[in-house]
Amino acid sequence: MSFRSLSFQRCLQTFVASSFNSKDKTHRYFSSNPAFPLQQPRKASYKIYSEDENGEMEWEKLGFGPVSTDFMYSMKCCEDGNFVQGNLTHHGNIEFSPFAAVLNYGQGIIEGLKVNRKENGGLLLFRPDQHALRMKMGAQRMCMPSPSIHQFIHAVKQTALANIRWVPPPGKGSLYIRPLLIGSGPVLRVGPAPEYMFLTYASPVGNYFKVLLYLNDKQLILTSNEIELYGLLIKLQGRTPLSLYVEEEEVRAFSGGVGGVKSVSNYGPVLKALVRAKSLGFSDVLYLDSVSKKYLEEVSASNIFTLKGNVISTPPTSGTILPGITRKSIIEIALGLGFQVEERYISVHELTEADEVFCTGTAVGVAAVGSVTYRGTRFEFKVGENTVCQALGSILVGIQTGLIEDKEEWIINIH
Ligand code: COI
Repeated sequence: MSFRSLSFQRCLQTFVASSFNSKDKTHRYFSSNPAFPLQQPRKASYKIYSEDENGEMEWEKLGFGPVSTDFMYSMKCCEDGNFVQGNLTHHGNIEFSPFAAVLNYGQGIIEGLKVNRKENGGLLLFRPDQHALRMKMGAQRMCMPSPSIHQFIHAVKQTALANIRWVPPPGKGSLYIRPLLIGSGPVLRVGPAPEYMFLTYASPVGNYFKVLLYLNDKQLILTSNEIELYGLLIKLQGRTPLSLYVEEEEVRAFSGGVGGVKSVSNYGPVLKALVRAKSLGFSDVLYLDSVSKKYLEEVSASNIFTLKGNVISTPPTSGTILPGITRKSIIEIALGLGFQVEERYISVHELTEADEVFCTGTAVGVAAVGSVTYRGTRFEFKVGENTVCQALGSILVGIQTGLIEDKEEWIINIH
């Protein structure tokens, strides 16, 4: 198949790392007395895995797709609003009543954190307290009880340690931990659930925007020579600056809604615009405010920043914008470097003058935007070496991976 015969308009699909095989799932880190077992933990003896026992993993191929790991952690909370002792069980399917509030009425909150491996093998967690706090705020908005900060961090640590063999080697990716807080109890009339579940599971991840090649909606099946050739292309695409499409029909959030919290209900509504933008060859969608359709809001899974001269701007978190932990960290790093940082409404027309545009998010990291297309006009921005985006991203990753001193005490060593 000719390299040129690929239509790039059709080629951009999320890389699904489903081909990674795991061996027998056993581990030494399961613990604790099940209080409300999600599933009966399998009583089989747990084989002890060493942390480097994942020899078959092709870490280079990691994108941002679901890779099942060994264990997940869960806690339940009944009418009294208190979460009690949780436990680790094998990673696997969970069972709910069809009446579960999260399934019917979207009563649920997600979080996302990354665990990184240091050169010396240690494991680092980045600002887990901030994620716990954000879940608490989101839970209030969604009328749910939430785990304490301590319970949240404990669950994340347990999940990371239980899945230690899934933490990629330094420079090859991270172990993404997904905390979920959901209305698991049954409802029929619209109302808060009588029972809640807090669950954390893990998946190793690489670049969020890494893609596999598709042709005419079919994933390409390649010979080994072609895999080598396309492997190079996939790598390049992982680092390629984003091309964003400004969406004017669908909105992500509106005043008084839940755009400012990580409600599960924020993501379904963006899919139509996202799929359309991807089918046109764009990497992602840039949403505008729901009222004037004039001001930048955010991208499907990340916050947006612009740079003009020494001034870095980002939309304010006044209800429709998610208060990203990466957003907050980049603002703090930029201020420390002497940039002027403005949290303000940014008109889409200001893109004509921006020097750089970039996105931030836990999953996305700090990603350079090469172009934004608005009403058929493509605005281009500086990317690559010697950009502010690259400098900020390197500092952040340096702190997250233990290569740069953590002066702000953002990092927790967990192993
Ligand atoms: C994250 O950045 O961790 C997120 O939760 C975004 C997610 C929707 C992929």
